[in-house]
Amino acid sequence: MRIAILPTGREASAAVAQIIAGAVRARPGLVIGLPTGRTPVRVYEELIALHARRRIDFRRVTTFNLDEFAGLTRRDPRSYHAFMRRHFFDHIQHDPARRFILNGAARDWRREVRRFERALLRAGGLDLCFVGIGRNGHLGFNEPGAALTARTHRARLQPESRRSNAYLFGGNWRKVPADALSMGMGTILSARAVILLATGKSKASVVRRALSGPITTWLPASLLQLHPDVLVVLDREAAGAIRRTARR
Ligand code: PGA
Repeated sequence: MRIAILPTGREASAAVAQIIAGAVRARPGLVIGLPTGRTPVRVYEELIALHARRRIDFRRVTTFNLDEFAGLTRRDPRSYHAFMRRHFFDHIQHDPARRFILNGAARDWRREVRRFERALLRAGGLDLCFVGIGRNGHLGFNEPGAALTARTHRARLQPESRRSNAYLFGGNWRKVPADALSMGMGTILSARAVILLATGKSKASVVRRALSGPITTWLPASLLQLHPDVLVVLDREAAGAIRRTARR
């Protein structure tokens, strides 16, 4: 696991955008996993700016989003579909047929998660999976617990995850759906490379535990310690609790 620490969130986000741009330049048909949340917004802004300067071409890139709230249609402004359009897809040239986001409103969620996994297999799997980390240690909506689900599935959200998404629901965490569809932990770990971005003081404790604590399903991000190609990009605040010896 490689760890890069940048002074500010803006610089950490710019570094992640540069790495993604480099990966797309090296492999124009890159298959990439994408997150939502507050953390990646600045990365998307940077990617949009690089795209405007013709430094990156997304036309052949295939994207798979990590998760979506159960019960929300793709047109619902609170959905992650809408989030991705607002923060990224509306601002770049990208073929919608190369964009895969779980349909939270699918009548048969089992069929929907199978469809998603099949599409991912057909695309050749994830070359790169870009993830954030929840304060409870989740990746996507793989929530801490006694067991994890390997493949894409329907997940029950913990109150902490609902609270951290309340900003999309008028500040009321009870309005955040109690369930979501999420890429599985095994699906994420099957990516050839993973890049995790965490910024801000509120992530310092979970970052320390995920990077240097025991590997446990009670902290899903700790499983990244098992992956051979993970880059963790942090700002100084998010890195505040990791021991000097862990910083390489
Ligand atoms: P955040 O969410 O960027 O809004 O903190 C990250 C996550 O839950 O993965």
